[in-house]
Amino acid sequence: MHDISQYQDFFISYLKRQNISKEPKNLYEPIEYILGLGGKRMRPVLTLMAAEVFDADYEIALPAAMAVEVFHNFSLVHDDIMDDAPLRRGQVTVHEKWNLNTGILSGDAMLILAYQYFEQYEPTIFRDLAKLFSKTALEVCEGQQWDVDFENRSDVTIPEYLKMIEYKTAVLVAAAMKMGAIVAKTSEKEANLIYDFGLNLGLAFQLQDDYLDAFGDPETFGKQVGGDIIENKKTYLYLKALEFSVPEKASELQKLFSQQLEDNTDKIEKVKLIFNESGASEATQKAIKMYTFKAFETLEKMNINAEKKNILKTFGENLMGRKV
Ligand code: IPE
Ligand code: MN
Ligand code: MN
Repeated sequence: MHDISQYQDFFISYLKRQNISKEPKNLYEPIEYILGLGGKRMRPVLTLMAAEVFDADYEIALPAAMAVEVFHNFSLVHDDIMDDAPLRRGQVTVHEKWNLNTGILSGDAMLILAYQYFEQYEPTIFRDLAKLFSKTALEVCEGQQWDVDFENRSDVTIPEYLKMIEYKTAVLVAAAMKMGAIVAKTSEKEANLIYDFGLNLGLAFQLQDDYLDAFGDPETFGKQVGGDIIENKKTYLYLKALEFSVPEKASELQKLFSQQLEDNTDKIEKVKLIFNESGASEATQKAIKMYTFKAFETLEKMNINAEKKNILKTFGENLMGRKV
């Protein structure tokens, strides 16, 4: 096994060896742009790591890792359109740098490109990867639709929210890991356990994402801080704040979240204050820990040595402490 920064390096050098840019440049340049913006490369790293957890060489997992990263970046290009987001990884989003149509079509091309990476595998592995990928991609769409639907609903429940983040985010983290297991030809049982590990890690990751969206440092976060508040996203922070607040505060929050404003400075400050004073921020931190520990429990059921468990655990612990 290697450590996390080595897997990042392996993946980045593979990414750099890909010849993505072709004509027409208005289709391919945005793809190179978004893939080149960096980010944590969390999902492809997990694919490479999972392959080595199950005793394969990380190199055979590189095309699958690339498929996951290209798909993830595709989903971000379209997500930034849907969320009207100006910034991604500290840079201008694709639809703002080019235009809406470019964001749509370059995104579409990325989805196809992602699938093409599976063609590098033998037929049985290809089938298993493509099957998992299709299921996952459709679930991501379902999660994204719920996320958007919830913007205009005031009766979203915590279980609904958890299902939504499971679909929009956690299933891809889980699938990234299971793909490593698939290329390593491990047993179905172990592959499903690593899927569960990834699913819980993915839930913790999205809860943290929600938290940082409100409380991240604008200098380092890379996205517009308060974006979820502007878009009236029904996050864990919001739902817990409603639950914990006295009726007057709760209706103040609901009122704030029924508005679409030109200047959101005041709204963001007010909402963040309610998130903190109601105990919602604390509850979110607790939930992040809870799902991370749930992931660690799954690890215990796995038939892998202690060194491997520790590397996966370190990954989870690092995620918990992340600021970006
Ligand atoms: C994005 O969810 C999920 C997908 C792209 C499928 P968010 O909208 O919450 O993520 P960020 O905050 O823009 O990264
Ligand atoms: Mn979104
Ligand atoms: Mn978004």
